[in-house]
Amino acid sequence: MLKEKKEASVAQVMTRRKILKAVCCAGAVAAVSSVALDKAGAALSGRTYPQVKIANIKNLPSGKTIKFDYPLTGRKNILVNLGCSAEGGAGADKSIVAYSMFCTHLGCAVDLDKESGMLVCECHQSIYDPKQSGKVVEGPAPNNLPMILLEIDKNGDIYAAGVAGLIYGLRNNLLDGEEIK
Ligand code: FES
Repeated sequence: MLKEKKEASVAQVMTRRKILKAVCCAGAVAAVSSVALDKAGAALSGRTYPQVKIANIKNLPSGKTIKFDYPLTGRKNILVNLGCSAEGGAGADKSIVAYSMFCTHLGCAVDLDKESGMLVCECHQSIYDPKQSGKVVEGPAPNNLPMILLEIDKNGDIYAAGVAGLIYGLRNNLLDGEEIK
């Protein structure tokens, strides 16, 4: 029994290592699907998502990350140029993506693991794939990471313009959860 448990946990560690070893652009994105904006949440609150400038494309070379608050103060997100095409990505080669940094498990901080190109939670090691719209690929996280929708204008300015998915800890992305009766 003990041996079986040990083998299972070794297998889990191996899987995790394999995922974290995946180089960002090793696998091409099979199918590009559009990411739906969280319109239900917006309608519920009677508000629309603001358009907020985050950065300029000139200041976001491959591998660079920028942290920013959106759509509410204190709701941290991470903007990253993956250097390869991603589902729902912005920019000429669809390599620019942004995600909520609040893990969907218990809300700990998620950050980019530069070696693997994955988004990893510091608490219980959930792993999300930023090339696949924030899909959970490992760990206890119950939902994909909410994706911040981006728009880039002709000057290369990058704007946050919406959220696909509910941010951890909120009942509505546009209001403090406590305000909804
Ligand atoms: S809070 Fe992220 S895995 Fe638990």
